[in-house]
Amino acid sequence: MKIALGADHGGYELKEEIKKHLDGRGIPYVDFGTDSPASIDYPDMAVPPCKAVQSGECDFALLFCGTGVGISMAANRMKGIRACCCSDGFSAKYTRLHNDANALCLGGRVVGPGLACELVDLFLDTPFEGGERHQRRVDKLTALEG
Ligand code: RB5
Repeated sequence: MKIALGADHGGYELKEEIKKHLDGRGIPYVDFGTDSPASIDYPDMAVPPCKAVQSGECDFALLFCGTGVGISMAANRMKGIRACCCSDGFSAKYTRLHNDANALCLGGRVVGPGLACELVDLFLDTPFEGGERHQRRVDKLTALEG
């Protein structure tokens, strides 16, 4: 499993915390920035990690901004990306089980590092449940891409 990381300035610090967590778990990642707390636009920071997921270079994207919302909106405009912004464990788990989400978006001004690490673990460790019902719905999401 390989992870693509991306953040704006609002998510920069949390991204750095999550890198330590991934290091501790031995999970490889590519950090697409940002690499400082200087202001930068979240739509721009969503694109390189999501492209890495689209190409198959990475399996999942972990994306960070102040709320997690803006960068999730950007990610969900990219073909094949199913991004979930969440701050609770139930959603982090079920977006993998039912939505086959491939991007988790977290708010650096919303969740602390401890909760964020738990959410990342739940997301990465939960497989897509599959089955006709869930696959049909994911296929309908894909059809909405046009
Ligand atoms: C930046 O100030 C902030 O708007 C951004 O990080 C994010 O929260 C947007 O959704």
